[in-house]
Amino acid sequence: TVADLKGLKQGQLRLAVITTAKYFVPRLLGPFCQRYPGIDISLQVTNHSGILERLTDNLDDLYVMSQVPEHLDVVFQPFLDNPLVVLAPANHPLANEKNISLSRLAEEPFIMREPGSGTRKAVQKLFAAHDIAVKVKLELGSNEAIKQAIAGGLGLSVLSRHTLTPDGATSELTVLDVEDFPIHRNWYVVYPNGKQLSVVARTYLEYLLDAAKQFSTS
Ligand code: PGA
Repeated sequence: TVADLKGLKQGQLRLAVITTAKYFVPRLLGPFCQRYPGIDISLQVTNHSGILERLTDNLDDLYVMSQVPEHLDVVFQPFLDNPLVVLAPANHPLANEKNISLSRLAEEPFIMREPGSGTRKAVQKLFAAHDIAVKVKLELGSNEAIKQAIAGGLGLSVLSRHTLTPDGATSELTVLDVEDFPIHRNWYVVYPNGKQLSVVARTYLEYLLDAAKQFSTS
């Protein structure tokens, strides 16, 4: 019977996800746990370099990240877009401008994620490609803290659009219309090549790929 099949799906699921996926993955775990009450979950949230370390040490069943590691032999599958956008306080003078240039943007004080962050790397890469230096006013290791700092008027930042949770509709932040933005990225589910996934991990992987469809920002 179906109940027996569900009962077979028991054990632990170990997930490690990058910081921006924490706005998405935990929401999906509720329905998953209801469907499979025998599965217990451990969820680690860390930045890009933290995920690389965990992947290298084979600590988890599945990883969610937005830059597939080049130097590790992994299986990867994109499942959702993860656009990086420029965020400003809603009352910022640039809020209503169209097609703001990167050089204009660089006149504003910037809030940057910590070294080891994939978001930081993507932003630095874009500015470096245009030979533009940004004025980093503040470095912060948390997307939430950065949102608060933007709202507090400390500067602008680039974050995943997914950090704007649904209540972001009424928030104090706005997305600026800047040339070359959004930076297009994806989330990938990743695991070491050759790793034998447990029944639990395979069940979650299928669930994730299916459930992700409703979260697309595009
Ligand atoms: P981060 O992850 O927390 O390392 O910035 C986000 C990303 O790589 O897209």
